[in-house]
Amino acid sequence: MEIKTIKKIGVLTSGGDSPGMNAAIRAAVRAGFYYDIEMFGIYRGYEGMISNDIEKLDSGHIGHILERGGTFLKSARSDEFRTKEGRQKAFDNLKSHGIDALIVIGGDGSLTGAHLFYKEHGIPAIGLPGTIDNDLSGTDLTIGFDTACNTAIEAIDKIRDTATSHDRLFFVEVMGRDAGFIAINAGIGSAAAAILIPEKKMQIEDLVEKLKARRKRKKTSNIVIVAEGGKSGGAAEIARKVQKFLPYYDTKVTILGHLQRGGAPSSYDRLLASKLGVMAVEGLLAGKYDVMTGIINNKVVYTPIKRAIVDDKAVDEDDFRIAKILST
Ligand code: F6P
Repeated sequence: MEIKTIKKIGVLTSGGDSPGMNAAIRAAVRAGFYYDIEMFGIYRGYEGMISNDIEKLDSGHIGHILERGGTFLKSARSDEFRTKEGRQKAFDNLKSHGIDALIVIGGDGSLTGAHLFYKEHGIPAIGLPGTIDNDLSGTDLTIGFDTACNTAIEAIDKIRDTATSHDRLFFVEVMGRDAGFIAINAGIGSAAAAILIPEKKMQIEDLVEKLKARRKRKKTSNIVIVAEGGKSGGAAEIARKVQKFLPYYDTKVTILGHLQRGGAPSSYDRLLASKLGVMAVEGLLAGKYDVMTGIINNKVVYTPIKRAIVDDKAVDEDDFRIAKILST
């Protein structure tokens, strides 16, 4: 493949934000400056590419953002970019700035956009896995996942205190639309009584039996973690179904929601984002296009975007088994 000369790189964050996105932007921009490249910020993801909300970045833009949650470039999900006309407008705007390559930080939808755009308009693009869901292949962990798990665990610890004081049964819903990674990690890390994830169906009867057995063993508090995309329904629905069989429990539901997406990135997320930001720029300069950069077994790797978004990243069977053993 022909290696293009790259002089101007545009950076954008797209889809649901995740802690560490700012650190990734900073690393990419700093690396760009190091290699004498002009760096451009594209605001609100693909929306900003279409509306020409693009500006040249200097070091002032990226001061003191490493430690901040969210993304200073803002984020959005763009319906217009799904159309050929929308992508043409975006391309014309990039050309007007002379931008020759893109760094896209986001989840599977955002990386799909980068792949399509490269196929259609030949703009070299490299993706960074930015999502709390951890549902991308080509990297052990995605940027933001570790922080989201820490946030969920901190919140569940607090729920545990009140659950224990009142001998209550709590159903806590965590994020993860189609993936149970946050649920499994937060569940193991907070000694959950059971963990319900989209990847595995759990019968209500089995859950009820499990909770009855725990009551017999005098477990005073029970916290059931439910991933939002669970096959048996959300936390509220499951609580309703279970309550009928366990009338002696005062059952409560807490939905952690978007608080899992905010906050300062953890040490791991800062490191991951910083490494991947630099490797994204170096990847583009080395002619690695249409790939996502990630870390597998402590090594930075580049995976074709098509594979990163299509290959199913499965929840580790050992993790699931371990969670089961620890909750009996
Ligand atoms: O993809 C990240 C994520 O936080 C999912 O876990 C969740 O289902 C979704 O985004 C929520 O999206 P929105 O912020 O648009 O409600």
